[in-house]
Amino acid sequence: MAAYLYLLVLAALACVGRGASSAADTACTEITVNKSYSCEGLGLTEIPDQLPTTTEILDFSFNLLPTLENLTFSKLNRLLYLDLTRCQISWVYEGAFHNNPRLHTIVLTGNLLLFLSDTAFVGPQALRQLVLTQTGISRLSFIPMTNLANLDTLILGSNHISSLQLPPSFPTRNLRYLDFQMNNIRTITAEDVSVLQKTSNLTLIFKGNDFLYIEPGAFRSSFFSVDFGGCINIPGILAGMQNSSTRTLWLGTFNDVEKESYLSPDSLQGLCKVTVQDLYLQLRHFESLNAATFHCMTQLRKLDLTHTHLSALPAGIGGMTALTELVLNENSLEHLCNASAAAFPALTHLRLRGNVRRLRLGSGCLQGAPRLQHLDLSHSRIDSSECCSQALRGLGALRYLNLSYNSQLHVGDLLFREGANLEVLDVAFTQLHISTSEGPFRNLHLLQVLNLSSSQVNSSIPHLFQGLEKLMVLDISRNILESGIMPKSKLLQQLTNLEVLILASCELTAIDGQAFHSLKRLRHVDLRHNKLTTVSADAFSHLKSIYLNFAHNRIQIISRDKLVSLPNHSVINLSYNPLQCTCSNIGLITWYKENLDKIEDPEETTCSEPKSLAGAQLSTVTVYCGISTMGIIAAVLGILFCVAIFIWSACSFRRRYQQI
Ligand SMILES: *[C@@H]1O[C@H](CO)[C@@H](O)[C@H](O)[C@H]1NC(C)=O
Ligand SMILES: *[C@@H]1O[C@H](CO)[C@@H](O)[C@H](O)[C@H]1NC(C)=O
Ligand SMILES: *[C@@H]1O[C@H](CO)[C@@H](O)[C@H](O)[C@H]1NC(C)=O
Ligand SMILES: *[C@@H]1O[C@H](CO)[C@@H](O)[C@H](O)[C@H]1NC(C)=O
Ligand SMILES: *[C@@H]1O[C@H](CO)[C@@H](O)[C@H](O)[C@H]1NC(C)=O
Ligand SMILES: *[C@@H]1O[C@H](CO)[C@@H](O)[C@H](O)[C@H]1NC(C)=O
Ligand SMILES: *[C@@H]1O[C@H](CO)[C@@H](O)[C@H](O)[C@H]1NC(C)=O
Ligand SMILES: *[C@@H]1O[C@H](CO)[C@@H](O)[C@H](O)[C@H]1NC(C)=O
Ligand SMILES: *[C@@H]1O[C@H](CO)[C@@H](O)[C@H](O)[C@H]1NC(C)=O
Ligand SMILES: *[C@@H]1O[C@H](CO)[C@@H](O)[C@H](O)[C@H]1NC(C)=O
Repeated sequence: MAAYLYLLVLAALACVGRGASSAADTACTEITVNKSYSCEGLGLTEIPDQLPTTTEILDFSFNLLPTLENLTFSKLNRLLYLDLTRCQISWVYEGAFHNNPRLHTIVLTGNLLLFLSDTAFVGPQALRQLVLTQTGISRLSFIPMTNLANLDTLILGSNHISSLQLPPSFPTRNLRYLDFQMNNIRTITAEDVSVLQKTSNLTLIFKGNDFLYIEPGAFRSSFFSVDFGGCINIPGILAGMQNSSTRTLWLGTFNDVEKESYLSPDSLQGLCKVTVQDLYLQLRHFESLNAATFHCMTQLRKLDLTHTHLSALPAGIGGMTALTELVLNENSLEHLCNASAAAFPALTHLRLRGNVRRLRLGSGCLQGAPRLQHLDLSHSRIDSSECCSQALRGLGALRYLNLSYNSQLHVGDLLFREGANLEVLDVAFTQLHISTSEGPFRNLHLLQVLNLSSSQVNSSIPHLFQGLEKLMVLDISRNILESGIMPKSKLLQQLTNLEVLILASCELTAIDGQAFHSLKRLRHVDLRHNKLTTVSADAFSHLKSIYLNFAHNRIQIISRDKLVSLPNHSVINLSYNPLQCTCSNIGLITWYKENLDKIEDPEETTCSEPKSLAGAQLSTVTVYCGISTMGIIAAVLGILFCVAIFIWSACSFRRRYQQI
């Protein structure tokens, strides 16, 4: 097999001699001329001569290189990045990279390494990244530390390392990222990791190791992020982290390690002696949650409790005055009040997406967090009969409100009375029942984005969009507009700042020529998936430039005068329309070819009629309408001929009659 592949490679190389292009099928792919090549999965047993010496980036994954020797890469002396994933490499001899002084990244993922020479990595002047994932390593002493002093990234995930004895020569100077995930590390002593005290701002990953014991205070350093995801023995881990500081601490777990995910009431007490900014606990179960659980979290800036099986945060949590972001996604709160917002007076972001139970909004539940700016309540089965001024009482600072993907909201008068600062409102995919003839959004003077997609909103309400003078983006797709016609001005009249209008899938059959005339800043209109039969160009003729998407409509013919009244700078998508490529549409066909720079997606802008041209791209068809001109000339000649015959016969009849 190998010999056969070798022959193939030889053949490929022979081809290179004759003509570079014919070799392309069997040889490496050029990604950037002279610089970047991929030889992935070609079964190669050596570096092909075809690769220029100027190669800097080489993906040589999935080939066959059982041994790396001092000649293997010696020609490629400008290499920067070398990917040797799954090349069945077992032996790396001395000086394997001796001639690659600029090399900064070596990826050896998925090679079962049996031998690494002491000088295996000698050569590169500043090796920065070494990836040794799935290489069968069981001891760190297996890795020669010679010439690794500049490493910033060392990845040792999915190996069999059970003891973490980092040698004194372990590279720490530039180290930023150290990954030991999915190994068998059970115990860590202070001595094992003492060398890490020389690092700062390190990202350290221990995800998926089953720690039994970590010596208290072993990690005395300042980290950027430490990840103990899926690990057991949280108290032991926190003891090990004693007197350290980290921006982010991951103590969450994963679905497949559910069994060990329980946290006893005092599991988190160790946090008192660790300096943490952002804490992640997703998928953990709290055996019993009470105010004391939070006792050591008073310094936190962000707390992520995604999917922690919570029905409420306990009352009486105290001192969490620094917390600005609370994530309660995918829990089963019964009531918005169960978020205990008053315990987090500095909160600016509350994420409560994907609540498993129907979330009741209640009244003023969040008023204890008056600085709230960002509130995500999407996908939370909300079914509110009186939305949402009472529910959001006290939230005058709110700028972002996401109510999308809920059941239904009934709005009596104003949707959100204190919404004076609201900038983004998303109600998409939530039924919105409005029982007011005045606009429910009329006090949202700063609103910039409004998404009402698929909200079954009643577009007949005369002043639906009243007051939205700052609105820039409006999505009313998937709603059925009255009589299928985008009416003259009425609905959108006041949206003088509107730039983006999404009207896709609204069953529109026509657009009034004046419908958008007050929208002077409009630049993007999406009319996809409607039932329009023509391009209503006059509706846009007051604009300087516009993007129009008419894809998936029923447009067959567009007259030339419509097209020329489009703004000079326009881009139009006409794909997936049943366009006619006959003489009756010669206006469009001629205009189209002259204005290809304005057309988006020409590959899918095709003819449907006549049958002989069905599927042909509009830009490629030529329609001869000369035949009908000939026909007219023939008909005129015919008539002239008949008239001549008639006059002649009349004359001769008269002459004969006179003769009688
Ligand atoms: C690639 O290398 C060849 C041979 O050294 C040189 O002639 C050519 O100009 C280079 N092309 C680019 C784009 O650098
Ligand atoms: C490469 O290795 C061979 C055999 O081990 C040795 O004879 C030779 O001197 C080495 N070359 C260099 C440049 O290190
Ligand atoms: C710390 O590390 C993170 C991630 O590696 C980086 O984004 C950040 O800029 C670093 N901070 C400092 C002060 O070096
Ligand atoms: C943590 O620091 C405190 C105060 O500096 C010290 O008393 C304590 O012994 C340290 N803990 C560990 C485990 O090193
Ligand atoms: C959730 O909040 C409601 C309303 O304040 C309260 O009646 C209920 O007991 C709370 N549920 C839990 C589990 O605390
Ligand atoms: C609102 O939430 C939904 C679902 O979580 C998300 O897809 C959407 O992008 C969010 N809207 C905004 C404006 O961020
Ligand atoms: C609603 O529209 C906004 C703006 O286009 C967008 O960011 C958001 O993701 C949309 N929401 C959903 C649920 O798609
Ligand atoms: C929509 O609003 C109009 C005007 O307010 C009203 O007459 C009509 O009954 C409403 N339609 C529905 C389905 O609520
Ligand atoms: C559009 O272009 C035409 C021809 O280049 C020019 O005569 C006309 O003034 C332009 N219209 C606008 C509104 O810029
Ligand atoms: C034009 O509209 C079609 C249909 O929605 C879409 O698939 C295509 O991506 C659009 N073209 C571009 C360039 O966005």
